Amino acid sequence: LTAYHESGHAIVALNTKGAHPIHKATILPRGSALGMVTQLPSQDETSISKKQLLARLDVCMGGRVAEELIFGEENVTTGARNDLHTATELAQYMVSNCGMSNAIGPVHVKERPSVDMQSRIDAEGGQTPKRSL
Ligand SMILES: *[C@@H]1O[C@H](CO)[C@@H](O)[C@H](O)[C@H]1NC(C)=O
Repeated sequence: LTAYHESGHAIVALNTKGAHPIHKATILPRGSALGMVTQLPSQDETSISKKQLLARLDVCMGGRVAEELIFGEENVTTGARNDLHTATELAQYMVSNCGMSNAIGPVHVKERPSVDMQSRIDAEGGQTPKRSL
């Protein structure tokens, strides 16, 4: 399962424009991680494009997608919890801090947004794009 999960990250990284090149993919456990795919940082980390961030989101989700494709929807595991955390934080950052959502617009959302704004942000971040690999 870990091999498929990590391969999912790697395959998406290899096939996504704007994704960092892969440095290493391993299924040797380290800390609480059962395996990992390490990517090289891009040249210019001070300014990251929307395309690159979207690529990160895709790579993040690649592990879970691989589990689903290989083992079936009901057999997915908790292995993706860190990926989901990372992807959710990143999506919120893109929408709330970087003005990268067309629906919310090029604004910085303050720490405690209005109820209306919060539900608009949630709607932006909560959409799960259906993909077919
Ligand atoms: C989940 O795994 C079981 C056992 O391998 C298998 O029989 C079942 O078909 C799988 N579920 C899906 C939706 O593929």
